[in-house]
Amino acid sequence: MKLLIFAGSTRLNSFNRKLAHIAAALARASGAEVSHIELADFDIPMYNADLEAKGTPADVMRLKQLMYEHPAWIICSPEYNGSYTALLKNTIDWASSPVKSDPDWLDGFKSFSGKVVGVLSASPGALGGLRSQSHLVPLLLNAQCWVAPRAFALVRAGEAFDAAGRLLDDSHRDNVQAVIDQVLFAARRLAE
Ligand SMILES: Cc1cc2nc3c(=O)[nH]c(=O)nc-3n(C[C@H](O)[C@H](O)[C@H](O)COP(=O)(O)O)c2cc1C
Repeated sequence: MKLLIFAGSTRLNSFNRKLAHIAAALARASGAEVSHIELADFDIPMYNADLEAKGTPADVMRLKQLMYEHPAWIICSPEYNGSYTALLKNTIDWASSPVKSDPDWLDGFKSFSGKVVGVLSASPGALGGLRSQSHLVPLLLNAQCWVAPRAFALVRAGEAFDAAGRLLDDSHRDNVQAVIDQVLFAARRLAE
C-alpha cells in the first residue's frame, strides 16, 4: 500500500514534522510503501486565481500527481487559532483547484477522491491540536476523502519527544500506530 505522509508545518523543530517522521517509520515497519514529503520542498505561492490563470505552478502539479498516486495518506496538522495552518489550507486549495488548461486535471478533486486519510496533530497545549482536526476533517470529506475514524492528538508536545525525536510515552506511539493500522486496513479494503 502506497502511503503519503506530510505535516502542515515547515518549522525546523516542528512537533508535527517529528510526528510525521515517527508515523513514516511505523508505517514502513507495517509494510507500507511510504512517501514522506516536506511541504518546504514544494515551491507553492499563496493561492491567487489571477496567478493560476497564467499557469498552475510546476510544484502544484508535482504535488497533485503525488497525492493521486497514493491511496492512503497521513496528515500531521498543527493548530493555529483553533484551526489548521494557512500552509495546509493553501496547499490543499492549490491541489484541489481544477487545471483548466489540462484535460487530465479538470476534476479538482482527482487527487483527493477516494483517499483514505488518517489525521494526527500535535501541540504544546492540552488539546493537542484537536481543534485543527475538527476543521480539517470536513474539508477532506468535502474533497471526497474517506477519513479514518481513528485519530490522535498529541498533547503537551513540548514534553513528548526525546532529543532524537522519539516519543517518550509508548502509549503515544501505540496511538499513532492505531491510526496507521486503520488507514492501511481501509485503503486495502477499498482497493479490493
Ligand atoms: C498564530 C498561532 C496560533 C496558535 N494557536 C494555537 C491554538 O489555537 N491551539 C494550540 O494548541 N496551539 C496554538 N499555537 C501553538 C502551536 O500549536 C505551536 O506553535 C506548535 O508548535 C505549532 O506546530 P509545529 O510545532 O508543528 O510547528 C499557535 C501558534 C501560532 C503561531
